[in-house]
Amino acid sequence: MFLFDLVPNSVVVGVILMLALKIYFDMSMGVCKSTKRLDGKTIIVTGANSGIGKETAIDLALRGGRIILACRDLEKAALAKDDIVEKSENNNIVIKKLDLASLDSVREFAADVLKNEPKLHILINNAGCALIGKKMTMDGLENQMQTNYFGHFLLTNLLIGLMIKTAELEEECTRVINVSSYANNFCKKLDLNDLNFVHDSTAGTLWAPFKIYGASKLCNILFSKELSNKLERHGKAVTVNSLHPGAVLTEFGRFSTVVTVFMRIFASFLKSPKEGAQTTIYLAVADDVANVTGQYFCDCKIAEPSKLAQDDGIAKKLWEISETIVKLEPTEKYF
Ligand SMILES: NC(=O)c1ccc[n+]([C@@H]2O[C@H](COP(=O)([O-])OP(=O)(O)OC[C@H]3O[C@@H](n4cnc5c(N)ncnc54)[C@H](OP(=O)(O)O)[C@@H]3O)[C@@H](O)[C@H]2O)c1
Repeated sequence: MFLFDLVPNSVVVGVILMLALKIYFDMSMGVCKSTKRLDGKTIIVTGANSGIGKETAIDLALRGGRIILACRDLEKAALAKDDIVEKSENNNIVIKKLDLASLDSVREFAADVLKNEPKLHILINNAGCALIGKKMTMDGLENQMQTNYFGHFLLTNLLIGLMIKTAELEEECTRVINVSSYANNFCKKLDLNDLNFVHDSTAGTLWAPFKIYGASKLCNILFSKELSNKLERHGKAVTVNSLHPGAVLTEFGRFSTVVTVFMRIFASFLKSPKEGAQTTIYLAVADDVANVTGQYFCDCKIAEPSKLAQDDGIAKKLWEISETIVKLEPTEKYF
C-alpha cells in the first residue's frame, strides 16, 4: 500500500499495460512443434553465422540435416560452426563462402553447390542487412536491395534446377523459404524503373534507409509469389513461402543508432533469436505446409502482407526486370 502511495497512478497503469502487452506477445508467439528429422537432407542457410539464421541452423542440425552455412565472413562462420556442432552433436556442418552483395560471389557459391552437392532439399534465404545508408555495390546495385533481394533472386534461380531434380528423385516437395519482414508495408510504391533508388526523391533523408529496406523485403514476397506461380504452372514439386520472423533481438539494427536504441529500450518485448527462428523452422520441416506454396507467414500461421505484395502483375514484372539486373544468362534460366 505504501509503495502504491508513492508511485503516480499513471506509472502503475503504464507498468500494468506493459506487462499485459508482454503476456499477449508471449502467448501469440508461434512455435514449431514438428519433431520431423532431416537425416539425409541437405539444407542451405544464408547468413547462418548470427541471429535468426544461426538459430535456424542449430535447430535443423539437431534434426540430423547436412547444413551448409552460406556466409560472407569465414571467420565468423567458423565460430558459428563450432557452436552449432557442439550444440547439435552433428558434424555434417559445412561452411561455404557467399557474399550476397556480389553477383560473382553468388555465381561461385552456386557453382560449388551444383558441383559438389547431389541434392538440395531446403534453401533458406535468410541473410539480410538493414538500414545502412544508401551505398552502391561493385555491381552498381543498391546494397540493401542486392543483399536482401537481388542476391537471393540470383541464387535461387541458379539452384532451382537442383531442387526440382531432388524433389523428383525423392517424390517429396523441396522447399524455398524467403525471410522477409513486416517492413514490406513501409514501401507504398515500388518504382520498377528505379529498383536501385538512383533517382529516389527521399535520398539522404532519415526515412530513405527504411524505405529501401521495406522495398527489399517487399521484393522478397513478390519474388516468392512469382516463383511459386512459375513452379505450379510447370507442375514442379518445389514450394516457396516467405515470412516475417517478428521483432527479434539480433544484431540486425546495428547500422542504425535509432534502431539500436529502440531495440535496447524494448529488449524485453522482443523475441529471442531462437523464438524468431520458429516460423522459418516451421516452413522448413512441418508436414502441414509440405504442399503449401506462395504464402506469407508470421508466427507459424498464414498472414497477409501489404496489398502491393499480393499483386501478381507487379510480381511478374519484377521478375523480368530482376533477370536483366542480375544479368541472368540463357544457360542460367530454368523457366
Ligand atoms: N531481427 C528482426 O527483428 C527482424 C525482423 C524482420 C525481418 N528480419 C530479417 O531476418 C533476417 C535475419 O536477420 P537477423 O535479425 O538474424 O540479423 P543479423 O543477426 O544481423 O543476421 C544477418 C545475417 O546476414 C548476413 N549478411 C549480411 N549481409 C550479407 C551479405 N552481403 N552476404 C552474406 N551474408 C550477409 C550477416 O552476416 P555478417 O555477420 O557477416 O554481417 C548475418 O549472418 C534478415 O533477412 C532480416 O531482414 C529480422
